Amino acid sequence: MKTKSIELLNKAVADELSAVHQYMYFHFHCDDLGYDLLANLFKRTAIEEMGHIELLAERILFLKGDVKLKASLEVKKINDVKKMLELASKMETGSADDYNRWANECAKNADSASKKIFEQLVEDEERHFDQYDVEMENMKKFGDNYLALQSIERSKNISSGQPAE
Ligand SMILES: [Fe+2]
Ligand SMILES: [Fe+2]
Repeated sequence: MKTKSIELLNKAVADELSAVHQYMYFHFHCDDLGYDLLANLFKRTAIEEMGHIELLAERILFLKGDVKLKASLEVKKINDVKKMLELASKMETGSADDYNRWANECAKNADSASKKIFEQLVEDEERHFDQYDVEMENMKKFGDNYLALQSIERSKNISSGQPAE
């Protein structure tokens, strides 16, 4: 039971780490382009994924395993905002699917604490997906104005003495 749980928890750590790297990469580029809303969304989500790593790592250590802190994927060098949101949404649904399956696997192995962690993560990943999905819808609805408005918002904040985060 323990070995299987440790393996699944470590797989999740690897995926979470990939998400942290990918979202921070998106954060830097959105920030550079002046899209504060998206830059902040990617940063906030990356920080939440880091919190997930912590939860998973604590459980791994409790089960007397060790944390393999190695990302499962290389960062994809995407600079187009629409494609960023598409990849981020795909990563979130992929994680939610995996964690649902792994929660069931832990339940089968009578490890309800690990199961609960995976279930908690599913809720968070579904919320992340929803946030990215809303931005994709906004982009569709407002077209080029969507990004232009974000740049204008930043200029407004800077000129009123409130620089972006
Ligand atoms: Fe996560
Ligand atoms: Fe997520």
